[in-house]
Amino acid sequence: MIYAGNFKTNHTRASTASYILALNSAIEGKKKDRVVIFPPISALDSFDISFTIGVQNAYPTQKGAFTGEIGVEQLDEFGIKTILIGHSERREILKETQDKVVEKFNFFKSLGFEIFYCIGEPLSVREMGEGKVKEYLLSQFDGIDIAYDKLIVAYEPIWAIGTGRSASVEDIRSIHQFLKSHIDKPLLYGGSVNPSNIGEIGSIDGVDGVLVGSASLKVESFLELMGSRDE
Ligand code: 13P
Repeated sequence: MIYAGNFKTNHTRASTASYILALNSAIEGKKKDRVVIFPPISALDSFDISFTIGVQNAYPTQKGAFTGEIGVEQLDEFGIKTILIGHSERREILKETQDKVVEKFNFFKSLGFEIFYCIGEPLSVREMGEGKVKEYLLSQFDGIDIAYDKLIVAYEPIWAIGTGRSASVEDIRSIHQFLKSHIDKPLLYGGSVNPSNIGEIGSIDGVDGVLVGSASLKVESFLELMGSRDE
């Protein structure tokens, strides 16, 4: 299993540092699972830890005149080689188009970054039925090299993000099977995953891990989530 925690715009530099150290001492030497944390940009640092730190976003540039963005020069300072691309909050709130997402994908792929590529349908598409959901999800791979060896896909239905209402086991199984038949890559589920539902979600065929927002924010909760899967 891959357990990824996306802090979004939560945590400070100080609280991230204590979280990361606490997480590291709790899991060191114990887990065969893969753990990845995506802290806010202001909290990036060089940590001596046994898991991966990734970045939630970056601009496809080494450096330059891109006010408010960060590029590879800033990531290199901390040895960051893992990036989240295509998260629905960037697509929907920050109006990141598929073309921009593809540009980022190609740029970070050319540098050998591990890419967590997010897809997910809005409620309006879900309400049109599963056929439309599948069509929509496939369209989010337009321009994306699905054969890239460092690609990890995360399916996060937008209506399940931050709502406390995860997709049903049946919905997840069906979409994951469908995606797996097209894309032979690790596939994570995200959207209101928590310590109570990880048991059933984590045991669905085709779920290789989870991308967790709210329930990753407290280290105790994230550890409980990882522990519950083993029970
Ligand atoms: P929640 O776990 O808060 O629903 O967020 C999921 C998510 O968007 C992770 O990227």
